[in-house]
Amino acid sequence: MKSIASAPGKIILFGEHFVVHGTKAILAAIDKRVTVTSTFTENKTIKVNSQLGTIEVPISSSHEEVKSEFRPFVYLAEFFSDQNHSGLEITIDSDIPIGVGLGSSSACCVSAAASIFGLFDGFRHKLGILDEVGAILDLAIDAERTIFPDTSGADCTVCTHGGVIEYPIKFSEMGNLQSDIRISFDLNLLIANSMIPHSTKRSVEKVSKFKENNEERFSQLCDLETKLIDEVNLALKNKDLTTLGLKMSENQKYLEEIQVSNDTLRDMISSLKEISLGVKITGAGDGGCIIALVSDENMDKVPALLGNDKECFSAKIRDLNGLVRERLEK
Ligand code: MEV
Repeated sequence: MKSIASAPGKIILFGEHFVVHGTKAILAAIDKRVTVTSTFTENKTIKVNSQLGTIEVPISSSHEEVKSEFRPFVYLAEFFSDQNHSGLEITIDSDIPIGVGLGSSSACCVSAAASIFGLFDGFRHKLGILDEVGAILDLAIDAERTIFPDTSGADCTVCTHGGVIEYPIKFSEMGNLQSDIRISFDLNLLIANSMIPHSTKRSVEKVSKFKENNEERFSQLCDLETKLIDEVNLALKNKDLTTLGLKMSENQKYLEEIQVSNDTLRDMISSLKEISLGVKITGAGDGGCIIALVSDENMDKVPALLGNDKECFSAKIRDLNGLVRERLEK
């Protein structure tokens, strides 16, 4: 039996870091995905194959015993250990760059949770799980917490639901998602990679320290971010790209203030200022990627402005699928 699931990477349009402290955020799926394939094996082991290497450990292993990059997968295997008496092989294929804030780890957790969940069909019936996607998302967030305990859960949520969402998500009484933001126009963003890997966990800890030392100002910044997100929602509804760009640059000021920027990111942002309506960090900062609202005619100018040591691509932010469970073969 083979179970395959895939999930997209993500960008945070607005609200990174503040979302960890309870404010709203707006996130979007991107057109780069992770696919996870899980199978039962005859060996009494959990084997994980990924770009980061391969591990094979006894099925009785705890996630705490393995290197951090493999921990979520062993956690997921461990979660189903009561149902499972054979071995498991989990293979991860990804076209999302690792460690640059584009949701590689969350997309891995979501697609692995769904892929492994798919092997244990009886489990859902046994526990009477009605909202299977909700159960997979909860499991994915728990798996991600094995490497990043303070995650807000926003990244796994957009990797699961796809599209553009406001987080925290809300559901109608009928169980329909109400937090998806319909984009009724072409919204193309430039994503540029500083090529500086970062640790989301460390950046989030740094912001918590900032909050501890500047309680009053941090609380003001959370209020400003909440107001900004309400204005962004209106701008998106009105297809008002000028306001959207201004709000991106305003959000960047708040990110500078909580100290998750650095000289490289500041240089990249200022290089793109002339040709864009707005530019900001996306994700944890301290490296990783920036996003810019650049019109199509100006896209050609980007490589010369950023220099060819930076990777950049254009991302269409509309109608992108979230979690896809592709196939279950016997
Ligand atoms: C990381 O992509 C986004 C952060 O806001 C952390 C989180 O929400 O868990 C920095």
